[in-house]
Amino acid sequence: MNGIDTLRGAYLERIKTAADEAAVEEIRLAALGKKGEISLKMRELGKMTPEERQTTGASLNRLKDEIDAALRARKAGLADAALDARLASEWLDVTLPGRPRRMGTIHPVSQVMEELTTIFADMGFAVAEGPQVESDWFNFDALNIPPEHPARQEHDTFFMNRAEGDDRPPHVLRTHTSPVQIRAMTDQGAPIRVIAPGRVYRMDMDQTHTPMFHQVEGLAIDKNISMAHLKWVLEEFCRAFFEVPSVELRFRASHFPFTEPSAEVDIRCSWKDGQLKIGEGDDWMEILGSGMVHPKVLKAAGVDPTEWQGFAFGMGIDRIAMLKYGIPDLRAFFESDLRWLRHYGFAALDMPDLAGGLSR
Ligand code: PHE
Repeated sequence: MNGIDTLRGAYLERIKTAADEAAVEEIRLAALGKKGEISLKMRELGKMTPEERQTTGASLNRLKDEIDAALRARKAGLADAALDARLASEWLDVTLPGRPRRMGTIHPVSQVMEELTTIFADMGFAVAEGPQVESDWFNFDALNIPPEHPARQEHDTFFMNRAEGDDRPPHVLRTHTSPVQIRAMTDQGAPIRVIAPGRVYRMDMDQTHTPMFHQVEGLAIDKNISMAHLKWVLEEFCRAFFEVPSVELRFRASHFPFTEPSAEVDIRCSWKDGQLKIGEGDDWMEILGSGMVHPKVLKAAGVDPTEWQGFAFGMGIDRIAMLKYGIPDLRAFFESDLRWLRHYGFAALDMPDLAGGLSR
């Protein structure tokens, strides 16, 4: 039938060129809606003769299905295209590297504390802590430094004030990290393997001294610990810390009230054109004090010296930080100069670990 073919042609063309889903809906209403053109034609079937009705009805039904299918297809096509357009405009490459924002830097002392904690943790040392305001018993007496001992004067101690009329000995700002030996052994007993990094204070101020500086204490107590273990631990530490294939340490007989025997330890190094090299050369640099823990110290901490023995050492953290990172002046560490911190500081994500290479 001619009229039906014309309708088909017109609607299929409109559907093909519909710009969006709203336009498609408009065409659907115009053709198949309650008052749509095809719907109205269907209603006219009632007025036809049965023969006419049969052929026209069938054609109209086919047309209706055809238009309906074309509308659905166009609608789906438009929806796909809309999604594609949105995906294209909102495309984001999640594999691009981030844009880091500067958030300040990690102080070299903090970085070095992380480094040495990592190295000693790998050797089975836990971290112990103690207060910076310490009783003179922990700082001195328990470490075999009685009140009349000359070492007390040598420590250039800062004393805290007591209240008027309080005759007890004053507390001190700890002059070394060694009191943490006593606290750790008192708390944990033996066997024990700890390091204690932290701040210490002495009344001293020049090119190479500041009134506050940092030490790390080491303590290993067991049944058979000897100076040989001390030597191995220190060599391993120095090799890992300075990131060199080998180091040479020199043990010089010395004296500390809290160790017997005692040794100061130097590391072989060279100074060439103001550049320090660790592990080679003809110079020696003192880096720490050490020895076998004195029986009186064990006893003061409640550890039986007939059963247990071990080593202790104390090392200046600021000093090894200067050595490793080529920082010439100690005083600049504590001046909070942002330019200095930006230059010598470390990024927040530079977290030292042994597997990845300590400082990379
Ligand atoms: N406490 C000593 C100092 O500050 C260092 C040290 C620690 C020496 C442990 C021997 C054993 O100089």
